[in-house]
Amino acid sequence: MSHHILSRYLLDNPSMVRDVPVLELGCGPGLTGLVAARLTSHPGRVVLTDHCHLVLGELVPRSIQHNFPNSDRPKCAYLHWGSDLPAFQQKYGRFDVILGADVIYWTEYVEPLLQTVSELLSAKPSSCFLTIYEERYLKAPDTTVPEMLNVAHKYNLTCSSISLDNNPEYQEARKQEKCDFKLYIFKHKS
Ligand SMILES: C[S@@+](CC[C@H](N)C(=O)[O-])C[C@H]1O[C@@H](n2cnc3c(N)ncnc32)[C@H](O)[C@@H]1O
Repeated sequence: MSHHILSRYLLDNPSMVRDVPVLELGCGPGLTGLVAARLTSHPGRVVLTDHCHLVLGELVPRSIQHNFPNSDRPKCAYLHWGSDLPAFQQKYGRFDVILGADVIYWTEYVEPLLQTVSELLSAKPSSCFLTIYEERYLKAPDTTVPEMLNVAHKYNLTCSSISLDNNPEYQEARKQEKCDFKLYIFKHKS
C-alpha cells in the first residue's frame, strides 16, 4: 500500500517531479518511479533502482517498456544503499527528488539509506527525499524512527512529516491494514 500512498501524493503534487531528475530507491515493482516518470515531460531523467536482480532483470524493464514504448523512457539500475555511490553519481548525476516507498524497516539499513540520500540528493533548497514509512509493529516500541532521526542529523538532513489526511489511498489503507503509514520529507540542512 505504501507505493499507492506515495504515488497518490505525487499525483496530487505533480509540480514536485515535473522536469527534474528523480531517483527511486528500493523500487520493487517500480510503481512510484513510473508514476513520477508519467508526470514529467522528461521520463528519461527518472531512474528506478533496487539491489534485487530479479526485480531489475525482468519486472521493472518490462513495466518500463510497456508504459513507455518510446525511446525517452525511465532507466533502471542496480543500487545497493551505501555502496559505490561515487560511481553511481558519476553515471547518473544527482537528483532533485528521491523517492522511497516502504524502504525503512530494518534499523541497520537506515544509515546506508540516508547516506545514499545525502550523497545523491542535489543541493537545491527544494531538493527532497520523500519516503512512506509503514509502522508495522504498533504494539512494540518503535526503534526505527528514532534511529532515522539520529542518522538524519548525522548526515545534515532535516526530517519532517507531511499530513496524509487528504490522501484517499492512505484512508483506504488505514481501513484495510493493521498498521499506520507516515510520509516523511528529508532535505539538506541549509
Ligand atoms: C518492502 S519493498 C518495497 C518495494 C517498493 N518500493 C514498493 O513499495 O512496492 C523494499 C525494497 O527495497 C529493496 N531493498 C532492500 N534493502 C535494500 C538495499 N540495502 N539496497 C537497495 N535496495 C534494497 C528490496 O529489494 C525491495 O525491493
